[in-house]
Amino acid sequence: MSELKKRISVILEAPEADINTKLLKICQLLDQEIEYYNWTGFYFRNGDKEELVLGPYVGAKTDHTTIPFGKGICGQVAVSGQTFVVPDVHQQDNYLSCSMDTKSEIVVPILKDGKNIGQIDIDSHKVNPFTKADEALLEWICQEVGKKM
Ligand code: SME
Repeated sequence: MSELKKRISVILEAPEADINTKLLKICQLLDQEIEYYNWTGFYFRNGDKEELVLGPYVGAKTDHTTIPFGKGICGQVAVSGQTFVVPDVHQQDNYLSCSMDTKSEIVVPILKDGKNIGQIDIDSHKVNPFTKADEALLEWICQEVGKKM
């Protein structure tokens, strides 16, 4: 994981690229390096509106390009500001399906100056793949991304 952190730092610190290019590169890297990450993307709050909009991502096209606060796993994290690990999406009532192949999901908030401004969302085709190491890695990424927003 620490090798991955180094590579993510290099992406984030690159002087020439804009933030969306950097976020896309992070999605591509995670998608390549972690085999059970099968959809990796960012959502951000839409200005002052209580909704999220889809940012850079890698994976299947999703219908959920705008998500109201409170709806689905992402919308719940927009409200709670807490990491949400869903080992089995079929056990969740408040869940928005992106792909029939998705079995589990983790969503980690991005805070800037203590405000919840967005999140990283990972879907997996495996049941219960996410460990404390995933949570720690993704929370670190969100902290670093938050500093650049
Ligand atoms: N499953 C998410 C919606 C986003 S897609 O997974 C890309 C949710 O329940 O919020």
